[in-house]
Amino acid sequence: MSARKSLLKKIAEARTKSESEKKFSGNLMDYVELVEKDPSIVKTSHQRLYESISEHGSYAMPDSDSRKFKVFDGEAVKVYKYFENEFFGMENVIAKIMNFLDSAAHRGEESRQVLLLMGPVGAGKSALTEHIKRALEGKKFYHLKGDPHRGEPLQLIPRSLRSDFEKELKVKIEGDISPVARHKLLNDYAGKYENYEIEESSFSQRARRGVAAVPPMDANSQDVSVLIGSVDISKLDKYPEDDPRALSLTGAFNTGNRGIVELIEVFKNEIEFLHTIITATQEKRVPSPGKSDMLHFDGVILAHCNEAEWNRFQSEHTNEAIMDRIVKVSVPYCLEVNQELKIYEKMLGKSDFKAHIAPHTLKVASMFSVMSRLKPSAKCDILTKMKIYNGEDVLEKGRVKKVDIKDLREEAKHEGLDGISTRFITKALDHALSNSDKNMVTPISVMDSLTKMVKEQITDDAFKKTCLELLQKTVRDEYLKILEAEIAKAFVTAYDEQAQSLFNSYLDNAEAYTTRTKLKDKVTKEERLPDEEFMKSIEENIGISGSAKDGFRSDVTAYMFAKMRRGDKVDYKAYEPLREAIEAYLINSVKSFARIVTKSKSRDSEQKEKYSEMMKTMIDDYGYSADSAEEILAYASNHLWRDG
Ligand SMILES: Nc1ncnc2c1ncn2[C@@H]1O[C@H](COP(=O)(O)OP(=O)(O)OP(=O)(O)O)[C@@H](O)[C@H]1O
Ligand SMILES: [Mg+2]
Repeated sequence: MSARKSLLKKIAEARTKSESEKKFSGNLMDYVELVEKDPSIVKTSHQRLYESISEHGSYAMPDSDSRKFKVFDGEAVKVYKYFENEFFGMENVIAKIMNFLDSAAHRGEESRQVLLLMGPVGAGKSALTEHIKRALEGKKFYHLKGDPHRGEPLQLIPRSLRSDFEKELKVKIEGDISPVARHKLLNDYAGKYENYEIEESSFSQRARRGVAAVPPMDANSQDVSVLIGSVDISKLDKYPEDDPRALSLTGAFNTGNRGIVELIEVFKNEIEFLHTIITATQEKRVPSPGKSDMLHFDGVILAHCNEAEWNRFQSEHTNEAIMDRIVKVSVPYCLEVNQELKIYEKMLGKSDFKAHIAPHTLKVASMFSVMSRLKPSAKCDILTKMKIYNGEDVLEKGRVKKVDIKDLREEAKHEGLDGISTRFITKALDHALSNSDKNMVTPISVMDSLTKMVKEQITDDAFKKTCLELLQKTVRDEYLKILEAEIAKAFVTAYDEQAQSLFNSYLDNAEAYTTRTKLKDKVTKEERLPDEEFMKSIEENIGISGSAKDGFRSDVTAYMFAKMRRGDKVDYKAYEPLREAIEAYLINSVKSFARIVTKSKSRDSEQKEKYSEMMKTMIDDYGYSADSAEEILAYASNHLWRDG
């Protein structure tokens, strides 16, 4: 089918669909009938927003997710599916936002407070707010027809009859109609509110229905009309100044009524501006432009700002009253490398960045940004801290290092509010790509481009020095380690099988050693003593020697049997210290060979074959392209094996 034909078909389909979804039309009493059938159509903005997000589902982070114990210290973490694939390492922030909405939905004090997201640049405040607003998009609501403020229809009911209506319909009625609606009621309906026409609309940010955003304004151009609308001067020759028909209710608190109002970088605004906002939230009323009554306002107010703005604002005594009406949720940077990495995967996925990204590129960038955000610890070095925050087991003398993530956090209260931003990293990725003639980004090119950007753009000398140290030493050394292991691994044929078979024999030997029994050969049925040399050759890779071996062997045995009893899978990856020992053993066994073959310019035929096998593994199994594999191998020859 041609594009023209197929698109015309789509247009026709869309038209029939929108015609079949007939909108409600009727008067107040028809609406009352609707409410009687389904009282849940009457809800506050906080309820609606809370439901729009939670209806996507949520679950408690399962015990099987290692982050639960390693990162969240076993706490019950709730994961909201609506945010799950868009926001990473932010479960706690999202839970706080949802708690706020939940309490506000129950008409708690929170329903009269501004929700403020505070955090450093590029921490995701705007992105979060956009996503929250989007939850309402397309959702239906009912309002008074011809009312720019889109008030709830039941507000037509006079006070004297409200309790009857509330009882009969099982709903709560709050607030009064707008001056514009009142004028219509008196003039078009002769006060007969039961005949007032009701309209159905859907939330739409673009069409300014129930979703509004207020950008910050400087003192000169600032005008409360952005919030509350204005008197339309052009209509003043037709109507007197206090006539509601002269009102142009196009402010954010008008268009955002029933839904949500976003205040971008809120503290850049003048104090007067903020007072209007506070009245809106605290009293649920906003002033009307001109001389009419205040207007009832029902909307979620979501503001954001950075820390400097917040601190400046907070330091003014006169602002206490405002601060008391704010629920502040801190939005720090992500401090988990694996989650940080997902942020970049998401951002690259959304852009039209179609280049090859070599393995470990985003990991290297994420290690850098996360470490730049960490405060030094007295308990361990910065790399160890990064790994612990990432939920990794860090080994020390064959045992998992006992540094408690809670203690580390305790030690550094203000963490995650400064350091390298997500935008800095994405810019570095872009630069690395535009400087590449092979349309690719590698860990090496991203480290180069980060170094360059740090030198050019960071003005704080101490921070610049920290960043350069991280890049030129900590991150680089860690990457070289990863790379060395990877290349060696690519030289081991059937790596997993070999590792598993080493694991099996080690476990047999360690068990026999621990229980003081003999091993039985599976084929010959001959009995023999545990192979001390073999066990040693594995253990020494993680620094176990002398008397430490007894403890290690019995730990391994006990751990594996406990696992088997639970029916868990037992393989060479099951116990981190042993996995590391086995991998190091395998890698060591090919290290010098890998070095010679990689570095050598003139390979003999056996070496040639090994080299091309290794290249094939790098490309087919590890995800390199021929170009990126070549680049990192050249890098390895120059930096890894200089002595060889
Ligand atoms: N934890 C995160 N999970 C997913 N994406 C994130 C996260 N943190 C940042 N981002 C992404 O980083 C980019 C920048 O974030 P955003 O613009 O929302 O920052 P901001 O906090 O509003 O910064 P600013 O104060 O400079 O306005 C966005 O594309 C956002 O999606
Ligand atoms: Mg922003």
